[in-house]
Amino acid sequence: MPKAARAKCVAVSAVVPEKRLTNADLEKMVDTNDEWIVSRTGIKERRIVADGEGLSTLAIPAAQQCLEKAGVSAEDIDGIIVATVTGDYLMPTTANIVQDAIGATKAFAFDLANACNGFVAALSSATAFIESGHSQKILVLGGDIMSSVLNYKDRNTCILFGDGCGAVLVEAGEVDGPGIVDFELHSDGSGAQILSLPCSGSANPPTPEKLANGDHFVFQDGRTVFPHAVRRMAEVSTNLMEKIGITKDDVDILVPHQANLRIIEPTARRMGVSMDKVIINIDKVANTTAGTIPLALADAEERGLLKDGTKVFLVAFGGGFSWGASYLTWGR
Ligand code: COA
Repeated sequence: MPKAARAKCVAVSAVVPEKRLTNADLEKMVDTNDEWIVSRTGIKERRIVADGEGLSTLAIPAAQQCLEKAGVSAEDIDGIIVATVTGDYLMPTTANIVQDAIGATKAFAFDLANACNGFVAALSSATAFIESGHSQKILVLGGDIMSSVLNYKDRNTCILFGDGCGAVLVEAGEVDGPGIVDFELHSDGSGAQILSLPCSGSANPPTPEKLANGDHFVFQDGRTVFPHAVRRMAEVSTNLMEKIGITKDDVDILVPHQANLRIIEPTARRMGVSMDKVIINIDKVANTTAGTIPLALADAEERGLLKDGTKVFLVAFGGGFSWGASYLTWGR
């Protein structure tokens, strides 16, 4: 089917909580140390929300700032997609809460759960809405409040994650103008149990006993997940490069999911992209699940590395397993 339009990413914003949780803070909570965390992951600190704050606490200002940067009014938005696995509630969706708060009265709104690949999946969905001619302007948010599902007595997981949310405005533009060139999405459900929220839905609903046992916290067998992440991040990136016929020279910045510096480095190597083109902020905000890519895009913009015309490669891998990549030229 011929495309009605190309999806353009025209503005980005990111919001993280005030409170910093450093590796030194975690040393007082679990048997860990700064040297181990930095050498095994690249993380130095993460941000976490205050009591009573949820994803919408970050998502609403992220959405408002993004629209302001783009010079677009909330009433002109056709849709809001929030990628998350830790929304305010399962129902209503955080997208609905954002829609009401910002006054996007004509926008449809839904959450999309695809764990760490959530932002790439949500951006790809928005692209399909726009390329089909269905929508003109979609706000795509990605964020998670991982502190709400972390066991701060489990050193295997609590050091890895943080809270944050970002937003990107996607608009319809000329078919042969700048924008999203292509994307790939993949899944392999055989990895479902290795990285999960075991007590979070209808198969195993929470009970007082299960909550007391901590069954609602994130479970990850990190050592088993690691090689899958390395393999799939590299594979999907090189496949997409080959499919659309680009080389490393066509990538101005690589914006990868920030789960571990030791996963990011081999991905860049396999793509032939030098590390100075790779946007890294895992040291400051850790793994914010669906938030990593928009947070890193906002960081790139702040550092002057993301402007109209910048050629951007996005890639992510996460729970499920699900993974994906997207290539685009930024701006209007
Ligand atoms: N502090 C100190 N020691 C720790 C620790 C911590 N926070 N966490 C684990 N260890 C210990 C382990 O108990 C283990 O000790 P042992 O050798 O005596 O058994 C040792 O450190 C090595 O643990 P291991 O799990 O093999 O470390 P690793 O090098 O694999 O790093 C992860 C762990 C989680 C950082 C890494 O496996 C990872 O990044 N996995 C993939 C994450 C991912 O991409 N997820 C999908 C997207 S979210």
